[in-house]
Amino acid sequence: MKTIIEPFRIKCVEPIRMTTREDRSAFLEESHFNLFNLRSDHVLIDLLTDSGTAAMSQEQWAAMMLGDESYAGGRSFYELEERVAAIFGYKHLIPTHQGRAAEHIMFSIAVEPGMLVPNNNHFDTTRANIEFQKAEALDLVIDQGKVPSLDHPFKGDMNVLKLQALIREKGREKIPLVLLTITNNAAGGQPVSMANIKAVYRVCREHGIPLFFDACRFAENAYFIKLREDGYQDKTPAEIAREMFSYADGCTMSAKKDGLVNIGGFIALDDDEWAQKARNLLIMTEGFPTYGGLAGRDLAAIARGIEEVLDEDYLRYRIASTRYLGDHLEEIGVPTVRPPGGHAIFIDARAFLDHLSPEHLPAQALMCALYEEGGIRSAEIGTVTFGRKDHVTGHEIPADMDLVRLAIPRRVYTQSHMDYVLEVIASLTGRKRDIRGLAFTYQPKSLRNFTARFKRV
Ligand code: F0G
Repeated sequence: MKTIIEPFRIKCVEPIRMTTREDRSAFLEESHFNLFNLRSDHVLIDLLTDSGTAAMSQEQWAAMMLGDESYAGGRSFYELEERVAAIFGYKHLIPTHQGRAAEHIMFSIAVEPGMLVPNNNHFDTTRANIEFQKAEALDLVIDQGKVPSLDHPFKGDMNVLKLQALIREKGREKIPLVLLTITNNAAGGQPVSMANIKAVYRVCREHGIPLFFDACRFAENAYFIKLREDGYQDKTPAEIAREMFSYADGCTMSAKKDGLVNIGGFIALDDDEWAQKARNLLIMTEGFPTYGGLAGRDLAAIARGIEEVLDEDYLRYRIASTRYLGDHLEEIGVPTVRPPGGHAIFIDARAFLDHLSPEHLPAQALMCALYEEGGIRSAEIGTVTFGRKDHVTGHEIPADMDLVRLAIPRRVYTQSHMDYVLEVIASLTGRKRDIRGLAFTYQPKSLRNFTARFKRV
């Protein structure tokens, strides 16, 4: 069969509301052209993020009723600890309310001022949490990972030569840990190959530097390895995931992605001393070590989610449905990051709106146009999120790329929703020269995409 159907039927529905173009123009003005300020009731198809937006399964909802809400020693914690040990292979589980809390704790215990933390690409909260420790977050993704149109099976790979040079130049003691983000969200949801994971692992071992994964989308990464890397075709996603994690010393995890839940995260690691330090900080900032920042029922839902996400039928559908959107966009002449990522399709807004310079924020402008045209909400992965204002010249220093991310919530939208998205984008392509650029009217010091305001130029 050619059609890869949604491997579920729908038992509970949530209505979505239609709005008129006129309504949307007014909402856009009111939002100061920042789609984070929109009410979700005013959005028809919400592709802002794949984080915390998954539909849970009947097993997860049933498990929530069995959640143990004890303050200490809760059954749900031990169940999750067991599953994490089985899937990820680490000894210690430290639950947090979401990924960035895990990052904050991890970097508070491991990173000191003046240190350097390499990654393929840091996600914005990861970077912010490292910079908060007065350390530097370095992106060492391979050069192919920076060229949106270039087809390469593992564009999330780290440049190992650059990593070696960095360690040689700065010294091992300056680098408290190396990170690998699987899949690499900031550069297109692109996977990291097992070969690259192993190569980074070998360099880290040689210098005695711990390797950690930012593991939010570990199952999607595992499935890409199965599809694209020699020797993995006959392995299950669970076996591949287990091998991936065997090359790292631990991970930070946002369960809001491949945990298939609406809230939750954790640190998983082997080192006893770091685990102890993390738990002490956890008690101060999140909660007692057997619940972290979560209710017992949340832990119960994560325990099922991390297992369901490795189901092969699910992953086949997940990767195929994302590819469906990406391939059809290419067909209608919309430039996207190739090949399609796991959780999202990224439109190359700088190439698509080539009448706008990066200073005029083409990705933000395209997002606003998609909302106004069809009620679609997306996210900016470009100059607003990763660029900076040069405080000497007052000019914008653009990011490497200006991308609009169409992130696909897990198990939420059907193929007809994606067909609608395609129609909206197709109708914009003929009139794209009418899309005007934007300029900041307000920007905060960090994480500016969330709260910045804009005007049309
Ligand atoms: N790391 C990566 C790679 C992420 O994509 C995210 C979140 C985090 C860490 C932080 O996790 O949200 O649970 O605190 N990404 C979301 C997104 C917000 O839309 O891509 P969190």
